[in-house]
Amino acid sequence: MNNLKKQVGIKAATFVKDGMVVGLGTGSTAAFFVAELGRRVAEEQLKITAVTTSSVTSAQAHELGIPLKDIDEVPAIDLTVDGSDEIDLELNGIKGGGAALLMEKIVATYSKDYIWIVDDSKMVEHLGAFPLPVEVVPFGCGQLFHLFDVLGFKPTFRLDDNEENLITDMGNHIIDLHLDKIEDPAALAKLLDETVGVVEHGLFNDMVKTVIVASETEGVKVIS
Ligand code: 5RP
Repeated sequence: MNNLKKQVGIKAATFVKDGMVVGLGTGSTAAFFVAELGRRVAEEQLKITAVTTSSVTSAQAHELGIPLKDIDEVPAIDLTVDGSDEIDLELNGIKGGGAALLMEKIVATYSKDYIWIVDDSKMVEHLGAFPLPVEVVPFGCGQLFHLFDVLGFKPTFRLDDNEENLITDMGNHIIDLHLDKIEDPAALAKLLDETVGVVEHGLFNDMVKTVIVASETEGVKVIS
């Protein structure tokens, strides 16, 4: 599995050219992309500026000597590369397994180009087997949890190592919705977008045009 993640991370790094502002995703697959960029910066004198999608990725990029800027210090983001938790046949996805969905969605939204890198276990017919993360404001989140429960969304609070409600990099909590199968991702996204107290959700519908996927049998493929 790690080998497949590494292969797509290295492939994605070939899309990065000198002078680009690059969005760095979060997660175990994106970490291979960041590692390869770090190698290219150190060994090939690749000249890039990066913006990151989480404190974890910031720390990795900093460690590797990749020049970082705040998202509001760059004129535009040329390309963002990130992992995904599930991708359906229309290239809609669920993200946020690493609790970074808010920063990830903001960086992706303001990127000219956006690529997901995954192993083939992430490719599914329908979204929803992976619990859908929803980032919520702490104030009133118990009421929101109850609303999701009444709607039949089977909510659970994401917990940290101390069994407390996890706090994201943006100071919010995550409620995971155990939906099993999402029949209409657009309708669900609209409902969540309109729900007070929801900061952002992990449905990334119609955002990505290119997916790099690796499998043991077929190697690395670029789907667009
Ligand atoms: C973090 C994310 C990750 O990109 C997603 O969870 C995939 O992670 P991994 O590559 O470790 O499977 O959305 O919020």
